Amino acid sequence: MNALEGQIAVVTGASRGIGEAIALALAERGATLCLVGRNRDSLQAVLAATRTPQRQHRCYASDLAIDDQVDELAAVLERDLPAVHILVHAAGALEWGPFENSPAHEFDSQYRTNVRAPYVLTQRLLPRLKAAQGQVVFVNSSAGLSARANVAQYAATKHALKAVADSLREEVNADGVRVMSLFVGRTATRMQAQLHAVEGKAYDPASLIQPEDVAALAVHALSLPRTVEVTEIALRPLRKPA
Ligand SMILES: NC(=O)c1ccc[n+]([C@@H]2O[C@H](COP(=O)([O-])OP(=O)(O)OC[C@H]3O[C@@H](n4cnc5c(N)ncnc54)[C@H](OP(=O)(O)O)[C@@H]3O)[C@@H](O)[C@H]2O)c1
Repeated sequence: MNALEGQIAVVTGASRGIGEAIALALAERGATLCLVGRNRDSLQAVLAATRTPQRQHRCYASDLAIDDQVDELAAVLERDLPAVHILVHAAGALEWGPFENSPAHEFDSQYRTNVRAPYVLTQRLLPRLKAAQGQVVFVNSSAGLSARANVAQYAATKHALKAVADSLREEVNADGVRVMSLFVGRTATRMQAQLHAVEGKAYDPASLIQPEDVAALAVHALSLPRTVEVTEIALRPLRKPA
């Protein structure tokens, strides 16, 4: 039997990239999906790609950069979901630019999407996660461990997300809830294609981490026996960019 059969998994950022790959891998293991992103059609397309149409998958359109929409989403999830076994925070926003002229409003928007929304959604779904002895996955970044030039805002949000995950883990392990951060390096997604464009670098997706490999690792960790907790995984491309 699949380890995650019958489990309800909420995945943000599921319309493409790493979130989509994790969602599809979870469905493959038998989970029922609740996908979150801004565009319902994109989420429906991901659901159509699952090979498990009989299950009661759902999708929810919500802009996680807008506080009211996050509150509405949390209320709808509370209404719809009898339990939450897995909560994956994959939605993320990245603005690249020199410290000197990166506008504060871009910092605010990244904070909302990358830190505040995962915080609020986890807080609101925590009773269901505790009841199910569930699992929370934060898709973080190598920038959440070490900040490089031109990503001060993004790196700050990802450092904050690490703090949220670490503090949460200390509080909820006693309830049987596992909390994992994935510190992902450059992965072949639209975000990375856009980053290469603004950096003025040639984009070679085949040389980067593949989203399916991130997903395989995440789902393996989520499927491990309950005697163990994977707290962090760091991944980076084998071949370093020039
Ligand atoms: N790719 C990399 O190299 C890399 C490296 C380190 C960490 N990460 C992290 O991995 C996660 C996934 O990124 P990705 O590479 O898969 O990027 P991506 O392909 O651009 O996907 C980003 C996802 O986040 C969703 N999203 C963005 N802003 C949102 C908002 N305001 N409200 C709701 N959903 C929003 C997007 O959905 P819609 O646009 O449809 O709303 C999309 O599903 C992010 O947290 C990112 O920081 C990526």
